[in-house]
Amino acid sequence: MTSSLAVDSPERAAATATSDTAIPTAKALYFSMLDNPEEAAVEARAFLHAQIELARCEPEELPESVTQLSGWVQGRSEAVGLAYREYLNARKNGAARRYFTNKSHALAFLKGAAPTKLADGAWLYGTLPRWENPDFHPLIKTYLEELGDGVPDKNHVTLYRRLLAAHGCEHWEGLSDPHFVQGAIQFALAYNAQDFLPEIVGYNLGYEQLPLHLLITSYELNELGIDPYYFTLHVTVDNAGSGHAHKAVQALRNLMAQSSDPAAFYRRVLDGYRLNELGASTTSIIAGFDLEAELVEIFTAKAVVGKNMHSDYCRVAGRSINDWLAEPAQIPAFMAAMEGAGWIKRGEDAENSRFWRLIQGERAEMFGVFSSYEQQVLRDWIQSSRDDSTAARTGRVLSHRARQRTLDTLNQHAERGAYPERGLIRRRRSGAESAGDAELRQLEQKVADAAGKPEAMAMLARLMSPAVHHTAIGLMATRMYSQLLDA
Ligand SMILES: [Fe+2]
Repeated sequence: MTSSLAVDSPERAAATATSDTAIPTAKALYFSMLDNPEEAAVEARAFLHAQIELARCEPEELPESVTQLSGWVQGRSEAVGLAYREYLNARKNGAARRYFTNKSHALAFLKGAAPTKLADGAWLYGTLPRWENPDFHPLIKTYLEELGDGVPDKNHVTLYRRLLAAHGCEHWEGLSDPHFVQGAIQFALAYNAQDFLPEIVGYNLGYEQLPLHLLITSYELNELGIDPYYFTLHVTVDNAGSGHAHKAVQALRNLMAQSSDPAAFYRRVLDGYRLNELGASTTSIIAGFDLEAELVEIFTAKAVVGKNMHSDYCRVAGRSINDWLAEPAQIPAFMAAMEGAGWIKRGEDAENSRFWRLIQGERAEMFGVFSSYEQQVLRDWIQSSRDDSTAARTGRVLSHRARQRTLDTLNQHAERGAYPERGLIRRRRSGAESAGDAELRQLEQKVADAAGKPEAMAMLARLMSPAVHHTAIGLMATRMYSQLLDA
């Protein structure tokens, strides 16, 4: 990381945008920024310039003058609050879920949003070297809060990783390119803060405002028995009164005041703000879910391994299972044949299907073949009948009392109660010291031996990068950086 971060430098940004640099796909850049960010930095700049061009086609939402920003943010926050109240009233009066037709739909959303959520906060990483300038502190403090100030139970990336693991949704690498656009933008900004500061400030302003979909998502995840803590946590930290949205406006004011050309700075803030609109979004991921297509995709992936694993006497509709699985295009017909042969009973409890009993239960012949996410997709597909696909899309209607319970439990969860405690604070084991413990002790020693605060802060910041801040050493570095920032 460089410590010579200019407050604004449009000329430099233009100079580094070489037209002959190949622009990588979002997905390729996403993974190269995780593996080797220094090497990918030039490509990342070319990617950012291309994304900014695209963002300029989006509508301009910000008020014309920065003096109107606080009131504008407050007004949007109030409008979101009102819209959410309307949503809750509608739900109390029997309206169906707005987002998730069933649990697998909700889990598919968690998976689809993973590349973005696992980059949470990354766009602010490049502000860490500016700790000596108090005008940067609102951004630095927002980054530290994204990292949970180094406490695993509060680190947003750690929380999301645990959520994915709890539901067997860890395999998201195969998602399509649009799913990686937001994450790639975030990583690219992380390592190019010296050239894209106004865009970072604008992106942060857009990202850190409380959206309606966050409130609805929290409510409906909870209703489906999925811990909404990662989402409810953001409801509280993004608030316009004192949270990240407030800090975003503060940072914009501070840094724009230092700019040699405040009007140009604000125009670039607007570009950064609109970067939030690109690629897959919460609502597009939710709208893109198709239960049957997801099931076919799961079976197609299993067929690669399973097509030679079945004995020839396993037959459905006169053909061997190996034969059915040999061609991915045959999977939908295979599912229909299993239904026709009575192996699957659509529209009934999954337990009534012979095929389900082959995969579920400790003595099941195919135990362990399907992850918990895949089982949920299969269960929901079996339990939905062909003719109730419309009902499945609009969701199950709950009684008034059930809805009230949902509201009550959501409030309890917000105060931490109903779902199991997540994560463990590292405990030092007595006796033998593990390799990890030794690494932590060495870091303590190195920081103690540093020639001065600048050297210590730079050393710690290197360990707080998007790829490592959620590891044991990254969390410890974050705790130490936090303490030293205010020391
Ligand atoms: Fe976050």
